Amino acid sequence: MGSWTRRLSKRFPDAEITGIDISAERLAIARNRMGHRPNVKMIRMNGEALEFEDGSFDFVYSSHALEQMEAVIDQALAEIARVARGRVVLIEPVYELAGLAQRLYSRKQGYVRSLLRAIRKTDLTVVEMFVRGVQLNPLNQSTVIVLQKK
Ligand SMILES: C[S@@+](CC[C@H](N)C(=O)[O-])C[C@H]1O[C@@H](n2cnc3c(N)ncnc32)[C@H](O)[C@@H]1O
Repeated sequence: MGSWTRRLSKRFPDAEITGIDISAERLAIARNRMGHRPNVKMIRMNGEALEFEDGSFDFVYSSHALEQMEAVIDQALAEIARVARGRVVLIEPVYELAGLAQRLYSRKQGYVRSLLRAIRKTDLTVVEMFVRGVQLNPLNQSTVIVLQKK
């Protein structure tokens, strides 16, 4: 939990970084792992209704969080697009690009099946998309999707 947030906070010590998760338990794990980092805020929040102003972040990312938002994927993507003012990076499995084994796994988990379609409904354009080199779970492979606000 929070591994990318931790890496970003080390790499960009002058940036103000905000992480969100709907689960208090998951946030507690992330906070524990992260230790005290003055440039990081971790807030309990629903990705479906972000409590931030429009265009309030230079950079927005999600790592295997959108995968769990099948029921609300259009709204979650719309919220990411709304709060972003520059780049967005998603590190997520993409059902639309997956092979049979990953599709079956994804269905069993109840994961998102229409991430690319949801992206197309926003004002985000795809700059780059590639399968991540390091894969932790071969049945749930991450694709890196770099997006830019139009
Ligand atoms: C597989 S974990 C990934 C966590 C983290 N992004 C990481 O890379 O370590 C998926 C996370 O998505 C969170 N999540 C699921 N639905 C959410 C929602 N509607 N809003 C915010 N977070 C949500 C879960 O609580 C869970 O912590």
